[in-house]
Amino acid sequence: MFDRQVEKTIGRYGGKILSSPGFYAALKQKHHRHSDVGTHSLHVAQTGVRMHLLLEKAGISTDARSIVIGALCHDLGMLETDRKYHSNRECCRRHPIDSAKAAQQLIGTLDEKTKDAILHHMFPATKTPPASAEGFIVSIADKYVSVKDLLRSLPFRQA
Ligand SMILES: [Fe+2]
Ligand SMILES: [Fe+2]
Repeated sequence: MFDRQVEKTIGRYGGKILSSPGFYAALKQKHHRHSDVGTHSLHVAQTGVRMHLLLEKAGISTDARSIVIGALCHDLGMLETDRKYHSNRECCRRHPIDSAKAAQQLIGTLDEKTKDAILHHMFPATKTPPASAEGFIVSIADKYVSVKDLLRSLPFRQA
Protein backbone atom coordinates (compact mmCIF):
# COMPACT_ATOMS: atom_id res chain seq x y z
CA MET A 1 0.00 0.00 0.00
CA PHE A 2 1.20 3.56 -0.78
CA ASP A 3 4.44 2.13 -2.27
CA ARG A 4 5.30 5.07 -4.56
CA GLN A 5 4.44 7.70 -1.97
CA VAL A 6 6.51 5.84 0.62
CA GLU A 7 9.61 5.68 -1.60
CA LYS A 8 9.23 9.34 -2.64
CA THR A 9 8.92 10.49 0.96
CA ILE A 10 11.94 8.46 2.08
CA GLY A 11 13.97 9.78 -0.87
CA ARG A 12 12.98 13.39 -0.12
CA TYR A 13 13.88 13.38 3.56
CA GLY A 14 16.34 10.51 3.82
CA GLY A 15 18.35 10.66 0.58
CA LYS A 16 21.38 12.22 2.24
CA ILE A 17 21.38 9.60 5.01
CA LEU A 18 20.91 6.68 2.61
CA SER A 19 23.89 7.75 0.49
CA SER A 20 26.20 8.37 3.47
CA PRO A 21 29.18 6.14 4.40
CA GLY A 22 27.57 5.69 7.84
CA PHE A 23 24.49 4.11 6.34
CA TYR A 24 26.63 1.97 4.04
CA ALA A 25 28.41 0.68 7.15
CA ALA A 26 24.98 0.00 8.70
CA LEU A 27 24.20 -2.38 5.81
CA LYS A 28 27.22 -4.45 6.91
CA GLN A 29 26.32 -4.54 10.62
CA LYS A 30 24.31 -7.59 11.67
CA HIS A 31 21.11 -6.92 13.58
CA HIS A 32 18.84 -9.24 15.63
CA ARG A 33 20.57 -12.23 13.97
CA HIS A 34 18.13 -12.04 11.03
CA SER A 35 18.88 -8.69 9.39
CA ASP A 36 21.39 -5.83 9.24
CA VAL A 37 21.05 -2.38 10.76
CA GLY A 38 20.68 -0.62 7.38
CA THR A 39 17.97 -2.89 5.93
CA HIS A 40 16.16 -2.98 9.27
CA SER A 41 16.21 0.86 9.47
CA LEU A 42 14.95 1.22 5.91
CA HIS A 43 12.07 -1.15 6.70
CA VAL A 44 11.27 0.87 9.84
CA ALA A 45 11.19 4.05 7.70
CA GLN A 46 8.86 2.37 5.16
CA THR A 47 6.53 1.17 7.92
CA GLY A 48 6.66 4.55 9.65
CA VAL A 49 5.77 6.45 6.48
CA ARG A 50 2.89 4.01 5.80
CA MET A 51 1.58 4.75 9.30
CA HIS A 52 1.98 8.50 8.61
CA LEU A 53 -0.06 8.18 5.38
CA LEU A 54 -2.77 6.06 7.03
CA LEU A 55 -3.07 8.56 9.88
CA GLU A 56 -3.24 11.40 7.32
CA LYS A 57 -6.22 9.64 5.69
CA ALA A 58 -7.85 9.53 9.12
CA GLY A 59 -7.32 13.29 9.50
CA ILE A 60 -4.33 13.04 11.86
CA SER A 61 -1.29 15.01 10.79
CA THR A 62 2.26 13.87 11.64
CA ASP A 63 5.69 15.02 10.50
CA ALA A 64 7.00 12.68 7.78
CA ARG A 65 10.48 14.24 7.89
CA SER A 66 10.98 13.41 11.58
CA ILE A 67 9.65 9.90 11.02
CA VAL A 68 12.00 9.22 8.07
CA ILE A 69 15.12 10.67 9.68
CA GLY A 70 14.27 9.15 13.06
CA ALA A 71 13.70 5.71 11.54
CA LEU A 72 16.78 5.72 9.31
CA CYS A 73 19.03 6.83 12.19
CA HIS A 74 17.43 5.14 15.22
CA ASP A 75 19.96 2.27 15.34
CA LEU A 76 23.03 3.90 13.75
CA GLY A 77 24.59 3.97 17.23
CA MET A 78 24.72 0.17 17.09
CA LEU A 79 27.61 0.17 14.62
CA GLU A 80 30.57 -1.71 16.12
CA THR A 81 28.29 -2.90 18.93
CA ASP A 82 30.69 -5.63 20.08
CA ARG A 83 33.48 -3.12 20.63
CA LYS A 84 31.33 -0.47 22.31
CA TYR A 85 28.92 -2.26 24.64
CA HIS A 86 29.69 -4.93 27.22
CA SER A 87 26.16 -6.31 27.63
CA ASN A 88 22.73 -6.33 25.98
CA ARG A 89 21.48 -4.12 28.78
CA GLU A 90 24.15 -1.51 28.13
CA CYS A 91 23.47 -1.70 24.39
CA CYS A 92 19.73 -1.27 24.96
CA ARG A 93 20.26 1.78 27.17
CA ARG A 94 23.10 3.47 25.28
CA HIS A 95 22.57 2.88 21.56
CA PRO A 96 19.70 5.40 21.25
CA ILE A 97 22.00 8.11 22.66
CA ASP A 98 24.80 7.09 20.29
CA SER A 99 22.30 6.98 17.41
CA ALA A 100 21.23 10.57 18.12
CA LYS A 101 24.90 11.62 18.02
CA ALA A 102 25.41 9.75 14.73
CA ALA A 103 22.30 11.41 13.26
CA GLN A 104 23.57 14.83 14.33
CA GLN A 105 26.89 14.18 12.63
CA LEU A 106 25.07 13.21 9.44
CA ILE A 107 22.47 15.95 9.15
CA GLY A 108 23.35 18.61 11.72
CA THR A 109 21.10 19.77 14.56
CA LEU A 110 18.06 17.54 15.08
CA ASP A 111 14.60 18.98 15.64
CA GLU A 112 12.84 17.92 18.86
CA LYS A 113 10.56 15.28 17.27
CA THR A 114 13.41 13.58 15.42
CA LYS A 115 15.56 13.56 18.56
CA ASP A 116 12.62 12.18 20.56
CA ALA A 117 12.03 9.42 17.99
CA ILE A 118 15.66 8.29 18.16
CA LEU A 119 16.22 8.66 21.91
CA HIS A 120 13.02 6.90 23.01
CA HIS A 121 12.49 4.24 20.33
CA MET A 122 13.37 1.43 22.78
CA PHE A 123 10.42 2.17 25.11
CA PRO A 124 9.14 0.17 27.03
CA ALA A 125 12.50 -1.64 27.26
CA THR A 126 13.84 1.72 28.46
CA LYS A 127 12.13 3.93 31.04
CA THR A 128 11.07 7.09 29.19
CA PRO A 129 8.28 6.93 26.60
CA PRO A 130 8.37 9.08 23.45
CA ALA A 131 6.87 12.55 23.89
CA SER A 132 5.65 12.96 20.30
CA ALA A 133 3.40 11.13 17.85
CA GLU A 134 6.43 10.74 15.57
CA GLY A 135 8.38 9.10 18.42
CA PHE A 136 5.58 6.59 19.00
CA ILE A 137 5.34 5.86 15.28
CA VAL A 138 9.07 5.08 14.99
CA SER A 139 8.99 2.99 18.18
CA ILE A 140 5.97 0.95 17.02
CA ALA A 141 7.35 0.57 13.47
CA ASP A 142 10.65 -0.66 14.96
CA LYS A 143 8.85 -3.36 16.96
CA TYR A 144 6.67 -4.40 14.03
CA VAL A 145 9.69 -4.80 11.72
CA SER A 146 11.65 -6.70 14.39
CA VAL A 147 8.77 -9.16 14.95
CA LYS A 148 8.33 -9.57 11.19
CA ASP A 149 12.05 -10.34 10.72
CA LEU A 150 11.96 -12.82 13.60
CA LEU A 151 8.85 -14.64 12.33
CA ARG A 152 10.29 -14.83 8.81
CA SER A 153 13.33 -16.63 10.18
CA LEU A 154 11.35 -19.29 12.09
CA PRO A 155 10.42 -22.65 10.58
CA PHE A 156 6.73 -22.45 11.58
CA ARG A 157 6.15 -19.53 9.18
CA GLN A 158 5.58 -22.15 6.43
CA ALA A 159 2.53 -23.57 8.22
FE1 LIG B 1 17.20 0.15 18.63
FE1 LIG C 1 15.56 -0.90 15.51
